[in-house]
Amino acid sequence: MMRFPEGFLWGVATSSYQIEGAVHEDGRGESIWDRFARTPGNTLNGDTGDVACDHYHRYAEDVALMADLGYGAYRFSVAWPRIQPDGRGPANQKGLDFYRRLVARLLERGITPMVTLYHWDLPQALQEKGGWLNRDTAERFGEFAALMFDALGDAVKLWLTHNEPWCASMLGHFRGVHAPGMKDLRAGVISSHHILLSHGRAVTAYRDGNYRGQIGIAPNLLPNYPLTDSAADREATRISDGYVNRWFLDPVLKGSYPADMLAFYTQVVGPLDFIKEGDLAAMGAPVDLLGINYYRRRTIEADPTSELGFRVHDIVPGTPTTVTGSEIVPECLYDLLLWVKANYGDVPLYITENGMVRDDRIGPDGQVHDPERVDFLRRHVAAAYRAIEAGVNLRGFFAWSFMDNFEWAFGYSQRFGLVYVDYATQARIPKDSARWWGQVARRNGLDEVDVALAQQPLAADSPSSGARPMFTEREE
Ligand code: FCB
Repeated sequence: MMRFPEGFLWGVATSSYQIEGAVHEDGRGESIWDRFARTPGNTLNGDTGDVACDHYHRYAEDVALMADLGYGAYRFSVAWPRIQPDGRGPANQKGLDFYRRLVARLLERGITPMVTLYHWDLPQALQEKGGWLNRDTAERFGEFAALMFDALGDAVKLWLTHNEPWCASMLGHFRGVHAPGMKDLRAGVISSHHILLSHGRAVTAYRDGNYRGQIGIAPNLLPNYPLTDSAADREATRISDGYVNRWFLDPVLKGSYPADMLAFYTQVVGPLDFIKEGDLAAMGAPVDLLGINYYRRRTIEADPTSELGFRVHDIVPGTPTTVTGSEIVPECLYDLLLWVKANYGDVPLYITENGMVRDDRIGPDGQVHDPERVDFLRRHVAAAYRAIEAGVNLRGFFAWSFMDNFEWAFGYSQRFGLVYVDYATQARIPKDSARWWGQVARRNGLDEVDVALAQQPLAADSPSSGARPMFTEREE
């Protein structure tokens, strides 16, 4: 048996733009993702979140399904443009009402809500003024956060300021694959600074309101490994780790930027004059928890011809992968959790996302059998358990995602859900993994059969591994 500590939260996660639809309803303003997705060439098949899973209208049914499946917690995000259509000013009550109704439903069904304030859908009106390149957006975010705390601060006890600030800044402003679609490293660094500053503003607003809950942030963390033991690869790995992990963790948990990255960025993008006095203290306002989104590792090779000095090997030959060519490396989750503890201390941790894409189809029996997803989650849960045994203060685990949804630039082509969504009818069909996840929640861990299965070696040619890569295009 792997029985988790009492009170451990077993949940599922989603985000507003990926599931809600109803983009013109009840006064919602435009977001940068509406604009980005509607711009030809940005998403596969030109898919947008206009309808998505129609969760805005079906939230009651969705909560009932979560409850029936036995889930204990639900992480969702608030669409900022529903609350402040122009990114500033008083709250749109109809927008707040939607989230009030959702939270009330969750609590009625005994499901703990965890709210993310920002999962990438910035009001387009703020983008017109520079978006995250404009320092003022951090102040606007602080005000938006205060409106949400005011509306839900009594009912909701678990808050996250930002989802994956590295993606919002670097994929959005440097790699150009996410909204707002810029391709400039300096813009990536500036936006990351303002996002981190906005995190600090929100945490301070939360403290000022004396709410009795916990607040933190949910970065995506990617454990980095050098391709070879050469000094050049090891040095490149340090920079890659600084770029994706430490640049975001250090300010939040230590109140400073990593010195090596300050020097590195100064060299490659010029003076970091957008960092003002007092910013680091604001960004380092103490948090109560850290969310970790974990999917895979990065294997790094030095490459002096690339802007950052390295190149990422997505797949080390022989490693099992999903159908999208994402390596399945549960043991790296264990490494990562111990690394966080060793470097950042015992802040309570939550896995706020973990999951996989599969080429899910409804079978002749009307069901969706997804043994690979069960296997994937089982192995990651087992790795999390071993980390707890090694002293890591892990408090919950959220599977990404509750249901299939709009997977950003990949549109509806990538199914991450525990629940299958038939987009033509909006029918929800729980996959095998959805029921299995409910059992894990009810048992508070893995039974003996699961533990034995999790311990079997996972080979590159095992059935869990994708036979063919669906996409080769990666962010780096
Ligand atoms: C993460 C995002 C989430 C989803 C998963 C698959 O990077 O936070 O919205 O797209 O990946």
